[in-house]
Amino acid sequence: MTYKRYTVTSALPYANGPVHIGHLAGVYVPADIYVRYLRKKGRDVIFIGGSDEHGVPITIKARQEGCSPQDIVDRYHTLIKESFRRFGISFDVYSRTSSAIHTETASEIFRKLYDDGRFIEQESEQYYDEEAGQFLADRYIIGTCPHCGNERTYGDQCEKCGTSLNATDLINPKSALSGRPPVLRKTKHWYLPLNEYEGFLRKWILEDHKEWKTNVYGQCKSWLDLGLQPRAVTRDLDWGIPVPVEGAEGKVLYVWFDAPIGYISNTRELLPDKWELYWKDKDTKLVHFIGKDNIVFHCIIFPAMLHAEGSYILPDNVPANEFLNLEGEKISTSRNWAVWLHEYLDDFPGKEDVLRYTLTANAPETKDNDFTWKDFQARNNNELVAVYGNFVNRALVLTHKYFDGKVPERDTLLPYDREVLDEVKAIKNRVETAIENYRFREALKEVMNVARAGNKYLADTEPWKLYRTDPDRVRTILNIALQLSADMAIIAEPFLPFSSEKLAGMLGMNERPWERIGDDDLLPAGHALNTPQLLFEKIDDEAIAKQLQRLADTKKANELREHTVQPAKPDISFDDFSKMDIRVGKVLEAVKVPKTDKLMQLKVDTGIDVRTVVSGVAAHFTPEEMIGKQVAVLVNLAPRKIKGIVSQGMVLYAEDADGRLRLVSPGVEVACGSVIC
Ligand code: MF3
Ligand code: ZN
Repeated sequence: MTYKRYTVTSALPYANGPVHIGHLAGVYVPADIYVRYLRKKGRDVIFIGGSDEHGVPITIKARQEGCSPQDIVDRYHTLIKESFRRFGISFDVYSRTSSAIHTETASEIFRKLYDDGRFIEQESEQYYDEEAGQFLADRYIIGTCPHCGNERTYGDQCEKCGTSLNATDLINPKSALSGRPPVLRKTKHWYLPLNEYEGFLRKWILEDHKEWKTNVYGQCKSWLDLGLQPRAVTRDLDWGIPVPVEGAEGKVLYVWFDAPIGYISNTRELLPDKWELYWKDKDTKLVHFIGKDNIVFHCIIFPAMLHAEGSYILPDNVPANEFLNLEGEKISTSRNWAVWLHEYLDDFPGKEDVLRYTLTANAPETKDNDFTWKDFQARNNNELVAVYGNFVNRALVLTHKYFDGKVPERDTLLPYDREVLDEVKAIKNRVETAIENYRFREALKEVMNVARAGNKYLADTEPWKLYRTDPDRVRTILNIALQLSADMAIIAEPFLPFSSEKLAGMLGMNERPWERIGDDDLLPAGHALNTPQLLFEKIDDEAIAKQLQRLADTKKANELREHTVQPAKPDISFDDFSKMDIRVGKVLEAVKVPKTDKLMQLKVDTGIDVRTVVSGVAAHFTPEEMIGKQVAVLVNLAPRKIKGIVSQGMVLYAEDADGRLRLVSPGVEVACGSVIC
């Protein structure tokens, strides 16, 4: 099916923090490649972005920082928008869900569904803070996790054991606002009965969209197979779009109801007179770029809303990506475990394309993937510099050297010359197929094959050797090499737009029409080239070490912060304490207890005697590390048999948050048998 126009959206990032490489790899870089490609093909396309400025996390952040939610979203909207611009994410509009036109659009859609009787009105009991005088979102309730006992679990999910919860599951719930136990109070909400759309969704997704990515299709199928429930589309909150019906004072639209409508509002802002063509015309192809945590909202809930509304088109595809990890660990905004886009742009000026390249080459298209700084360096040095940069540099430098920087006249082509040009045409087709099927890693690999073919062509034909004996042949060779360089400037543009711009400047190319990739006369003979500069530069170890050091510092800071101190034990009397006889002893011998991982058999001089103590430290120290050390020993612990060995006493250790043991010793050598009191 051919479409007349394209509406391409990318998930609206929450304006409660900056954008990081996970967002970029999952959503914005692939979306940008896709739209840049479509534009090069001359298609009618709009690329919609914007900030998602409602929802509870933003109000929480504002409370933490002692400012208003509006302050938070103003700050991050500006930062995000600016860093996207610097990074070359080529939105046609980047607006925000706090705009007036968005309130209008979301209210209109809610109102239409309401008037058409599409919602169920229902009362339920929800936690209410009597002191603060408001209902509490799940995130605003703290209590003990019923699964793992963590005492600081929020009402939506336990961060310790990962279980997702309802606030009413928590033991000893307390309000995060006042610290007081909340009470249950009746409240009315509007629900979208998703169950009524199950049949429609099953057919639309499971039968009509079998071509969707397997991760997307699979997630939809499991949601549908579990059966859909009515879903509340309003909340008791004071931050958001007021529910536009009477009797809904103090209530706002649920953020996941209003946010996707932001795509429509932003289109209205961009094209006030024509927006409907992009949202209501069957000849428009709608594509949502998102991360995997957004699948249910874009494939089930939003389509159900639009379908219920009745006049909108539904997405043709939702090419959601999996997650990108950073140095083997999940990216986390709250733990600052991320590479932030604005910081990258400051640290690596002029290297936008290096990050675009790495994130595409490593995109988490079918499974979670890992970003490492070493890989980033290697991809730059071994691929961008050594393959792409090296090829075009040789073509340009040799032309300047032999032919005064003018594209040389060409002789009759040899079969090899033809073959190389034909190969480029074939690559062009493969790149198109890959992009149109949302396989951007594969597409980028093919793009680099043009430069690879160029390098091989120069290595095979060796113009630098041939020049003295056969300058005419060298004319042809460099002519071909320059055509390939021009091909790179076009075919790489959706992926590496900054470098294409730079290369086109060196080649003196004005237009770069996609359809001419592989033509033998992209650059006509006699055309003057500009001075060559390096397209990419090596990234040295020092720059990488700096980034790794920053991550190491983050990790250390997190460990300190997350170090949880065990709660105090109940009081004991002085008598209880003085019953314990703790002495300084010295380890004379130490051997691992065979067939165990943890146990070590020690011979300890306690000053009173020399005795055997079995100690669970084999995982923390080697016997050599123990021998000769002074330690604290509880000497009047009743003897116990451990693995057949009688242990007479207990050596004491300090245990840190992750269970690592350290010796407790007097600091200076004291006599064995000294009392610890
Ligand atoms: N803010 C959401 C997130 O970051 C994405 C919203 S996408 C939209 O997960 F469709 F709702 F806009
Ligand atoms: Zn838990």
